[in-house]
Amino acid sequence: MEIYKDPSQPINKRVEDLLKRMTLDEKIGQMCQYSSLTKKIKELVKKGLVGSLLNVTGIDKVNEIQKAAIEDSRLGIPLLLGLDVIHGYKTIFPIPLALASTWDPQVVRKVARIAAREASSEGIKWTFAPMVDIARDPRWGRIAEGAGEDPYLGSVIAWAAVKGFQGDDLSDPDSILACAKHYIAYGGAEGGRDYNTVDVSDRTLREIYLPPFKAAILAGVGTIMSAFNDLNGVPASANEYTLRKILREELGFKGFVVSDWNAIGELINHGIAGDIYDAAREALKAGVDMDMQGDIYRRTLRKLVEEGIIPERLIDDAVKRILEIKFKLGLFENPYANPEKARKIIKCKEHLDFALEAARKSIVLLKNEGVLPLRKDLKTIAVIGPLADDKVAPLGSWYCLGDPKDVITVLEGIRNKVSPKTKVLYAKGCDIECSSKEGFEKAVSIAKQSDVAILVVGERGDMSGEAASRAYLDLPGVQEDLVKAVYETGVPIVVVLMNGRPLSIKWIAEHIPAIVEAWFLGLQTGRAVADVLFGDYNPGGKLPVTFPRTVGQVPIYYNHKNTGRPPDPKNRFTSKYIDEDYKPLFPFGHGLSYTTFSYSDLEVKPRNVEPGDVILISFTLANIGDREGDEVAQLYIRKAVASVTRPVKELKGFVRITLKPREKRRVIFKLPTEQLAFYNREMKFVIEAGTYHVMVGSSSQDIRLVSEFKVTSTKEVSPRTLKFTETIIK
Ligand code: NOJ
Repeated sequence: MEIYKDPSQPINKRVEDLLKRMTLDEKIGQMCQYSSLTKKIKELVKKGLVGSLLNVTGIDKVNEIQKAAIEDSRLGIPLLLGLDVIHGYKTIFPIPLALASTWDPQVVRKVARIAAREASSEGIKWTFAPMVDIARDPRWGRIAEGAGEDPYLGSVIAWAAVKGFQGDDLSDPDSILACAKHYIAYGGAEGGRDYNTVDVSDRTLREIYLPPFKAAILAGVGTIMSAFNDLNGVPASANEYTLRKILREELGFKGFVVSDWNAIGELINHGIAGDIYDAAREALKAGVDMDMQGDIYRRTLRKLVEEGIIPERLIDDAVKRILEIKFKLGLFENPYANPEKARKIIKCKEHLDFALEAARKSIVLLKNEGVLPLRKDLKTIAVIGPLADDKVAPLGSWYCLGDPKDVITVLEGIRNKVSPKTKVLYAKGCDIECSSKEGFEKAVSIAKQSDVAILVVGERGDMSGEAASRAYLDLPGVQEDLVKAVYETGVPIVVVLMNGRPLSIKWIAEHIPAIVEAWFLGLQTGRAVADVLFGDYNPGGKLPVTFPRTVGQVPIYYNHKNTGRPPDPKNRFTSKYIDEDYKPLFPFGHGLSYTTFSYSDLEVKPRNVEPGDVILISFTLANIGDREGDEVAQLYIRKAVASVTRPVKELKGFVRITLKPREKRRVIFKLPTEQLAFYNREMKFVIEAGTYHVMVGSSSQDIRLVSEFKVTSTKEVSPRTLKFTETIIK
């Protein structure tokens, strides 16, 4: 048997053996990925000139094309079949921004695991997830796809998602290959306009945008996607500095880089390539191993090698990385879908139950002045709004192979929940985006007959995600007017929001007594929302992103710098607005509960530490209400005086805990000093000597306990360093 076909041989030997047998065209073929199965692509597959396909789904189709690659091509190299399995394959979970609101990495990990198991059973072995872009601008629709604005929360979630998709072993039939995207700083698009130019300092690049990628790499992510955007004058998909120096040299990434969709071809539009040959040369030199859908590599690389413009060694390096992953995935041994397993596990009870748990945990109670939870034996309930009975929006923008028919709407969830004697009246009121108020009359009339009105308002699922930037952050169409019209009736109102980004809902926040942030929660939306509305589940999610009062405040994020003139309402010449408050509408980390938590007895030990030490930060957390509930306790630090300006607060630890009524626990954050590292004035990554303030609380603005500690000397640390803050609960 050929060495490369022998599973008992070590992977590096199999790769070497296979590479030696390949022609230049076959090598280039491995570096090409295509989306549609045209006749031409099928022919290329049979000739062994395609490495990967995306968006080819369905067991029969998948198995047929895989068989063509294996049985018809000369060397029989299996295809790597990829798909955007973002928050579920067929069992659809909450969107990533919602999952980040759980502040629970175990939930994120399990969601990814289930998605991987379902996808893998149908022959999909690669997902383009997790999206780990930090997003500080809610105009950017892709904020829905990530974990929000914070590099620490984003890192913990990136790590968990990669572990979930890939498991401990890529060849496990439940595992699929993950892809951290979009490398890098894609979320920094000017004006929040998708695909737009990004111009950020090296410090911001490294301290804000890079950490979640670092976490993904340390978790073992097999692939990275190079982004569409221009970064400080060099497109991310042709950027040697970020793709070779930072990614491979500094962070030690060993997997392969795939471009985003035709990002290589788009180097021509960026204006750093005159034609496809320039584009291919720039991308390959920078370290892009696979060309997604552009068909640039196939058309150019042979000529570039023959003319000596590109050394064949660069192609060999790329192909080795791709083949290595194919071997690690066990594709040579197990290339096909498993229909029996698929039938058994897809949308099975365990998966649907977990979709409900994830959805409940994702919900954030933004405001509650005595209205929630509702009684189940109310006489009449009005359910109003364009999203109340919508089966598509709750799936979000990337719903993979999810089926809208499987979605439980909020209206259905409420109807199933209440007592048989309760009348549930429904009026749509208006469309998500329209100017007509014709439906208001019915909405107002049912509200008048009811004990409470539940208004479900927000965005369509495709109003966030890719190419879905918004210039306004208000509720679309006439929805706010609908809320106002119902408000005029005087009936108590609960607003349930469905949206893929922070919205500026200032009027609602000021006038409506109860607001529930439901994002897009997937198949179990209605059950989860009803559980929260009627108190069968006590909400405990927290915002992973700041809600602005108005779009004019954007970018607004909690970990900002202090400035030389921090805002002071009494002094005009300080950093604020003359026509709006400078504070957010809802801050990062905010989220209420039906119970109350108290924080006390903060202890920081030791008070003086050396770089390399661990600081123990402990406090007592108590549920002083009479309902069981979840609290996300948050740890923030601030370097009092530093060689460079530092954020006023940086999240460095968190934990979500469930406490019974009257229960109290001692929480201990073990903060490794490596968590304090930042880039100093010389751009060295250091743990810097000096005093650090410690803040513990229930949100970035609701700090309950403060203390401090001192680091006694300065030490440079490796940029690969990443140690999370562990939590002990006693
Ligand atoms: C383009 C998107 O930017 C990326 O996120 C996605 O994974 C690819 N298309 C493939 O669908």
